[in-house]
Amino acid sequence: MLTALRAQFHVVAESADIGGDRACSVRLLGEDLVLWRGPDGLVVAAPDRCPHREAPLSLGAVADGCLSCCYHGWTFGAGGRCTLVPSSGPGRPVPPAAHLTIGTVVERYGLVWVCPGTPCGDVPVIAVDADPTYRRINTGVELWRTSALRMTDNFLDIAHFPWVHAGTFGRQEQTEVPPIEVGPLDDGWYGYAYEVQAGNEAGAVSSGQAAAVVHRAMTTGFHLPLSVRSTIRYDTGLEHVLLLCSTPVDDDTALFTFVVWRNGDHTVPAEEVIAFDRAIGAEDKVMLERVPGHLPLTASGTVSTQADRASVEWRRRLAAM
Ligand code: FES
Ligand SMILES: [Fe+2]
Repeated sequence: MLTALRAQFHVVAESADIGGDRACSVRLLGEDLVLWRGPDGLVVAAPDRCPHREAPLSLGAVADGCLSCCYHGWTFGAGGRCTLVPSSGPGRPVPPAAHLTIGTVVERYGLVWVCPGTPCGDVPVIAVDADPTYRRINTGVELWRTSALRMTDNFLDIAHFPWVHAGTFGRQEQTEVPPIEVGPLDDGWYGYAYEVQAGNEAGAVSSGQAAAVVHRAMTTGFHLPLSVRSTIRYDTGLEHVLLLCSTPVDDDTALFTFVVWRNGDHTVPAEEVIAFDRAIGAEDKVMLERVPGHLPLTASGTVSTQADRASVEWRRRLAAM
């Protein structure tokens, strides 16, 4: 696992998942974390280990934003501060080491981003999130049996469309990838623009068009370490923006979540709008879970062609971290 990833923000849950009287347990970079919403409304993320006798804090109960350990009742509030050691009686000071060491949490786009170490990166910018003509759709979090690096590599890759996505939008008539020019996009994203004729037989709701094949003008780019943004513009003016997030649970498993922004058809139920994207994601999952081992970050470990330029540049920059 790349240690530099500890200094970066990773999506571990959706905001809607955190709250109420239960804490949430997540695994990030091989470490178990507990998450709960503190008395100030802010999400607290800390190692899922009570400093007293190491019980998983995620088994405890939350009341008024304070998490009580299920073993001896030590209680933790805002910022992970230990506020109560029941065995000491009221009014006694708590040991300084009883306070939890917390990660940095940012809630953005309906997602909970956690940096377990000292942050040296930031959450990527999705400008349309601030545009009221776009609606945002959150889609849940899935566990995939693949590495987050393979996931991100896949999301930057368009050469697999005719093969992996034959059941959704991929077309055997378009296996050739035109020359790709990679470079800076807007808002700190880095990637490329391209045009594609996409199969639309299962995608009519998503594209807003009934034709068997539809034209898409697209940009796809990355934000280090593991975020990918893909924007689809249809000839009708409909724009479909995807944020694809890969989170390293450990070396072999990853969380996948995506967020969609759309500038039209706001009355169509969200689940209908994203059903096509869900089917596409399921195709990627089947493929990636069949690829063994880890993605080498060095250029010598795999063979790449011009169609892989974005992935090659992403891997180079990731390795330089
Ligand atoms: S182990 Fe948590 S209070 Fe004792
Ligand atoms: Fe794919």
